[in-house]
Amino acid sequence: MIRAAIVGGTGYGGMELLRWLLAHPGVEVGAITSRTQDGPVTDHHPHLRGLTTLAFTAERAVDLAKEHDVLFFATPHGVCAKEAADVLEADADVKVVDLSGDHRLDSGAAYAEHYGKQHPHPERLAEAVYGTPECGAREALRTARLVANPGCHAYASLLALWPLYREGLVTGRSTVCSVTGSSGSGASPGAGTHHPERFGNFKAYKPLKHQHVPEILLALDAAADGSPAVVDFVPHSAPFSRGIHVTAMVPVAPGTETAAVEAVRTTYADEPFVRLVPKGTPEVRAVAGSNFADVAVTPGDGVVCVTVAIDNLGKGMAGTAVQNMNLVCGLEETAGLLVPGAGL
Ligand SMILES: NC(=O)c1ccc[n+]([C@@H]2O[C@H](COP(=O)([O-])OP(=O)(O)OC[C@H]3O[C@@H](n4cnc5c(N)ncnc54)[C@H](OP(=O)(O)O)[C@@H]3O)[C@@H](O)[C@H]2O)c1
Repeated sequence: MIRAAIVGGTGYGGMELLRWLLAHPGVEVGAITSRTQDGPVTDHHPHLRGLTTLAFTAERAVDLAKEHDVLFFATPHGVCAKEAADVLEADADVKVVDLSGDHRLDSGAAYAEHYGKQHPHPERLAEAVYGTPECGAREALRTARLVANPGCHAYASLLALWPLYREGLVTGRSTVCSVTGSSGSGASPGAGTHHPERFGNFKAYKPLKHQHVPEILLALDAAADGSPAVVDFVPHSAPFSRGIHVTAMVPVAPGTETAAVEAVRTTYADEPFVRLVPKGTPEVRAVAGSNFADVAVTPGDGVVCVTVAIDNLGKGMAGTAVQNMNLVCGLEETAGLLVPGAGL
């Protein structure tokens, strides 16, 4: 059995990781941390009653390293950046899966620009593998010690864009509209995420300035003409709890639209967690609670439209984190994850 610890167990990511890991046939959860709670985890996460007797611990991540094979950091930006280096040094075999944005970019300067703080260990950025198994990272993940789990908007967008960039089919700037549910903002209520503000409301935020854009661009190959990929990205906040829905409009040369559709379909034909939607378009309720991404692609005139639905807490976060753990720990990639969503 793989022994796993969760750092940041009271938040939505920690909650969702625990839900997946308790049902995983090859994993035992040894510890789940909190600075603010010390009782049974089921007092805080009542939907897990009857499934675990774990209690929150305040143990430091570095002290958990020796007794665990893998540590998940489901913590705000800045925590894993500080602590991962000590964890990786404390035990030569331990692996770290970072759900925050701390290891997704390629330089301390880029991190400072997009996250507004200095990275305490920029030397670790080159070692981190960006954890997108469906978008080219599967083999690198098998030997990784430090995984930078992708952002939720970023992964939904990449699932739409990556096959087209990889095949060199893109001829100009792509436009992506990504709509997220409120659990994307984490468990601590804020002015913009409070229920009366979200319910019945819909708005864009951080247009063209979201911090997930640089990780999207880093993961895309250059466009067909060799110039760097350009993606105009606008996130929106919607009045549902779980889910991300992406609409990507990608320019392609006239006459290559059918090849573009085929590129998307071929890329995902054998992917266990990507479902090509044969009829209609992806819906967030069809993936909520699951690790699936539903994808549809429609050809236009010099453009293709790719739509994607994921659960931001599933494929956009904890589901992919468990999939990445399976890969870095040498387990079956799908172990513990082939579960349907609730459907409603
Ligand atoms: N929500 C999403 O859809 C989503 C998707 C992809 C990625 N992410 C990223 O994943 C990370 C976690 O997101 P979340 O939504 O789970 O956040 P959250 O609900 O706000 O939870 C954050 C957790 O971190 C703990 N924590 C806070 N400061 C800490 C510190 N200094 N040291 C140790 N633990 C600390 C908190 O526990 P205590 O206060 O009890 O200690 C809490 O359990 C974030 O970086 C987020 O950007 C989120």
